[in-house]
Amino acid sequence: MPVKVIVGAQWGDEGKGKIVDMLTDGADIVARYQGGANAGHTVVVDGKEYILHLIPSGILHRGVTCIIGGGVVVDPEELIKEIDMLAGRGFNVEGQLFISGRAHLIMPYHKMLDKAVEGHSSSVKIGTTGRGIGPAYADKAARIGLRVADLLSPPKFKERLKKAVFQKNILFEHAYGEKPIDHEAIYEQYIGYTERIGALLTDCRAILTQAVASGKTILAEGAQGSMLDIEHGTYPFVTSSVSTSGGACAGLGLPPNSITEVIGIMKAYTTRVGEGPFPTELTDETGEKLRKEGGEFGATTGRPRRCGWLDCVVGKYAAEINGFTSIALTKLDVLDTFGEIKICTGYSLHGLQVNAMPEDVEALEFLSPVYETMPGWKTPTAGISSYDDLPEKAKDYIDRVEKLVGVPVSIVSTGQGREATITRA
Ligand code: GDP
Ligand code: IMO
Ligand code: MG
Repeated sequence: MPVKVIVGAQWGDEGKGKIVDMLTDGADIVARYQGGANAGHTVVVDGKEYILHLIPSGILHRGVTCIIGGGVVVDPEELIKEIDMLAGRGFNVEGQLFISGRAHLIMPYHKMLDKAVEGHSSSVKIGTTGRGIGPAYADKAARIGLRVADLLSPPKFKERLKKAVFQKNILFEHAYGEKPIDHEAIYEQYIGYTERIGALLTDCRAILTQAVASGKTILAEGAQGSMLDIEHGTYPFVTSSVSTSGGACAGLGLPPNSITEVIGIMKAYTTRVGEGPFPTELTDETGEKLRKEGGEFGATTGRPRRCGWLDCVVGKYAAEINGFTSIALTKLDVLDTFGEIKICTGYSLHGLQVNAMPEDVEALEFLSPVYETMPGWKTPTAGISSYDDLPEKAKDYIDRVEKLVGVPVSIVSTGQGREATITRA
């Protein structure tokens, strides 16, 4: 009964979409367990690029059930846009995509608040995606959120919406100098979504439990990355959900003992979008080269991603908190033209060596990376699909990552497409 959890090992954009799509070949169900339309998961099939924000990255495999779990925060407008985008490109998701009634709805005021808070002088600027994620999860925790299932009970929906809008208007008018909003207009807008969203509503937990019992293969797709996890990431510069493997149990209603594999998706170097500590960040021409070679611009917001060398302290920490059983090392080909490649093995503070992630992750701001330098392979690896065909120096790099992180690299990705993938036995 394999439940494989796919988790980003760094600060997001590690290539989860590509690996989930590739592993869907052989899976029965793909389920997103947290986050919302802040995610941007890119899948490239036959040279065509699909960017998915809410719909699981297995959707391009016909016949595979895709689930948006209760731990996800759903923006119905974005979801409908994505369904229509797929339909327009020949993928009708009807009968294939299901959504949990427990998933919370992103409301217009969540997006407004996200932007108002970010822009306000009293706030710590996080550099959010502006998709309303933090405010939606805050309402969930405050027990004033609206859920997908609530759409099916219009009077109850209206009553709860009215109360939530009342509270938000106090903030808009008195804290952020914004105009008050009208709950009636939001009600009409959201009731308008009922037909299409309601048609997808299913008891997803029951489907998953049944699938586990009958030995089907489930991929649990994480969004964001381990260092953006609200519990274990670089708080407060994180997203507002548990993106690590434990979040799959909570977000899908799957028991921990149903999980058989945890695959960490690790980019061969590091990127981060938004604010917050990033010890191996390169602000020089090497960082610029990584950005250019890797096409490192946000799939959701288009922002240039901050780039730097691979940080194996982060990698080891991510392996510990998630329980990685293996690693998929992505974007190896991006390093093809570098004469030398650095790999962070530890940190130092005033000459003192720090070998593990500090408990106070904010201390990362003050730590300097300690690097080991490896010779680059200076040979194209792009598109290679057999491990034996990799240059020896690239194999040495992979070996070093395995040693430093303490987890085997079972998949190596050498390009955007499905075929540019090495699976090691
Ligand atoms: P995700 O959020 O983790 O799914 O990652 P994104 O889709 O935001 O960003 C990863 C980007 O790298 C996408 O444009 C992918 O198509 C691309 N990509 C994934 N794997 C590889 C690879 O091995 N090599 C190259 N060159 N690009 C890759
Ligand atoms: P995928 O799934 C990279 C970052 C934002 C910001 C912080 C909080 O594509 O890897 P939020 O909008 O979630 O409140 O923003 O988290 N962030 C991501 N960075 N990839 C993502 O998703 C991200 N989702 C959120 O840039 O720093
Ligand atoms: Mg992304």
